[in-house]
Amino acid sequence: MSPRKVERTRQTRRSFLQTAGAAAGAVLASVDIARSAHVAGSDIIKVGLIGCGGRGTGAAAQSVRAGDNMRLYAMADLFRDKLDRSLAILRKQVPEKIDVSEDRCFVGFDAYKHVIECCDLVLLCTPPHFRPEHLKAAVAAGRHCFVEKPIAVDAPGVRSVWETCQKAKEKGLAIVSGLCWRYHYGVRETMRKVLNGDFGEIIAMQTNYVVGYLWAVKRKPGWSDMEWQCRNWLYFQWLSGDHIVEQHIHSLDKMAWAMGDQYPVKAWGLGGRQVRTDPLYGNIYDHHAVVFEFANGIRAFSYCRQISGCYNDVSDHIFCTRGHVDVLKHTATYKGRRIWRYRGPKNNMYQTEHDEMVKSIMEGSPINNGEYMTKSTMMAIMGRMATYTGQLVTWEQAWNSKDELKPPAYEWGPVPIRPVAKPGITKLI
Ligand SMILES: NC(=O)c1ccc[n+]([C@@H]2O[C@H](COP(=O)([O-])OP(=O)(O)OC[C@H]3O[C@@H](n4cnc5c(N)ncnc54)[C@H](O)[C@@H]3O)[C@@H](O)[C@H]2O)c1
Repeated sequence: MSPRKVERTRQTRRSFLQTAGAAAGAVLASVDIARSAHVAGSDIIKVGLIGCGGRGTGAAAQSVRAGDNMRLYAMADLFRDKLDRSLAILRKQVPEKIDVSEDRCFVGFDAYKHVIECCDLVLLCTPPHFRPEHLKAAVAAGRHCFVEKPIAVDAPGVRSVWETCQKAKEKGLAIVSGLCWRYHYGVRETMRKVLNGDFGEIIAMQTNYVVGYLWAVKRKPGWSDMEWQCRNWLYFQWLSGDHIVEQHIHSLDKMAWAMGDQYPVKAWGLGGRQVRTDPLYGNIYDHHAVVFEFANGIRAFSYCRQISGCYNDVSDHIFCTRGHVDVLKHTATYKGRRIWRYRGPKNNMYQTEHDEMVKSIMEGSPINNGEYMTKSTMMAIMGRMATYTGQLVTWEQAWNSKDELKPPAYEWGPVPIRPVAKPGITKLI
């Protein structure tokens, strides 16, 4: 290794430690990180992966590519087969960046605690149900966090994450959200122009996430309810929050972004479970249509569907007085004529998230995306409350909801599931 490289490596490690320490008033966070650094006896930045599925594996590769001396150091999953598969992929993709010994592979519901204990930066990539607890533990231990979307499945989880993000700010810890479109250059520039008023004032918005079926995992003999539900997590309200929360959050976040990170004051909607009714698909809906209304009267009309054999469309539209903005195409048209198109550099938003995260830590001003990642999750849950109950739901009602989606215990046994919601009958809690 060249001397220059060694110097850069040292600086990186020191910056990681200093960032967390400085803003914390040099108390807990710095002590914990310094201790783990000392034990390892090196200048390596230790990255821990919690939730070793498709997204977690991708995030791990991106995280270690974001800095010379970043190494994947520990991994946690509920299941050993998932962890092994992820590790094998990562060993092929970024072999020089993997330093995961057998005694740093953790399995089970408490596995996350061990990863948090021994790493500097953690990637929280499990199903969203577990995010509030994992994030709370990571921030309490003084770790920088990459936090996949959504950040919770219910309002108590949202409120917990809100508090944790405030603590992270006080401690000088990075909280980078997996709402990846916020890191896409073309979408960023499109939103900058919308917010700048370049196309006039917003009149209304429409957002679509209408797609076919996703993967599903059939139950195997010998699996408990808990094992099957955790392996087939997309379809259980308590694990995913329903697809309006798990997937459509990307679209809803863009609506809030276009409004200058203002959130709707009320919502009502229609939804149901019409085609994807097999028990394989748990207890979530297959379609939702929600009208979100903002304080200034602007409405966002939102649609999401997961039914195969139908028209598909993933797009976001902002209708302004002097142009129709197609967010994902990064274009604007007026009276049928194109008036603007993004021509700037392209980027891989998934990589940029980690590059900007590491840079912000090293520069001593860690990114904290806590506010929008928390409120956009709330917006999506509010939409689900509206379609499940059939009621008009206000932001206050949604934020203060006491409805907690939680199994009786985190253990490998029976897990009763709620009946599929019925509008007009299911109550807002
Ligand atoms: N930003 C994006 O574009 C994007 C894309 C895909 C997924 N995601 C999000 O990433 C998260 C993971 O999705 P995925 O597609 O990787 O799912 P996945 O099923 O492939 O991976 C989830 C992994 O977490 C593990 N897990 C479950 N509970 C756990 C626990 N309590 N502790 C430790 N591990 C646990 C599972 O066994 C599995 O290996 C979800 O929140 C999803 O919404 C984001």
